[in-house]
Amino acid sequence: MEIQLWREILNPYELAVKEVMTKFNHLIKEHRDRGLYSPIEQVEGRVKSISSILDKCQKKKIDLEDIEDKISDLAGIRIICQFVEDIDKVVEIIRARKDMEIKQERDYIREMKSSGYRSYHMIIYYTVDTLDGPKKLQMEVQIRTMAMNFWATVEHSLQYKYKREIPDHIKERLLNAADAIIVLDNEMSTVRSEIMDAQISFRI
Ligand code: GTP
Ligand code: MG
Repeated sequence: MEIQLWREILNPYELAVKEVMTKFNHLIKEHRDRGLYSPIEQVEGRVKSISSILDKCQKKKIDLEDIEDKISDLAGIRIICQFVEDIDKVVEIIRARKDMEIKQERDYIREMKSSGYRSYHMIIYYTVDTLDGPKKLQMEVQIRTMAMNFWATVEHSLQYKYKREIPDHIKERLLNAADAIIVLDNEMSTVRSEIMDAQISFRI
């Protein structure tokens, strides 16, 4: 496929990523401006690279003309939270928004993947206005804590290093690390609620 054609396909997805990142970053600012704690700590976004799209098409036997329907993460947004409880708040914020329609939700936090991966995934429909008029497209939103992000980032670079065939003894250590992340996230939540309790009794 010609590079110009790729550009035409991916352009609306680039716009969508920019718009949605702006919107979530603005939510952070709105919280801060009101002196409120923001359940969103950080927002990342990317459009899938052409080489990853081609890889995925080959692996999942997807025709090039079907990529927009069948690859739901051409546009990807990642929302990083400080605490596990924040994730539910972010999910509620997204469910309540008029400009995002939910296609699918997957809770890999309550049900960890066999690799040890944990995150809350949503596929949403989002409409961008282009030269050809409105275009409704799909986006993948991954919501996770900073600790879950640490794990997923390290595991992802190991997958890359080992060309997706991580040796068993390392897989096992990653599973142990995933358990440690659960303990860490819970411990941080406990610390936070103790701080909040202390603040309340201090005010009284
Ligand atoms: P793909 O995995 O994208 O082919 O589609 P799927 O339908 O299997 O979706 P799934 O929800 O399993 O994964 C979507 C995305 O989540 C991936 O593209 C990754 O970004 C992330 N992800 C899923 N599993 C893992 C994992 O084991 N490790 C890491 N680091 N990321 C993962
Ligand atoms: Mg997968």
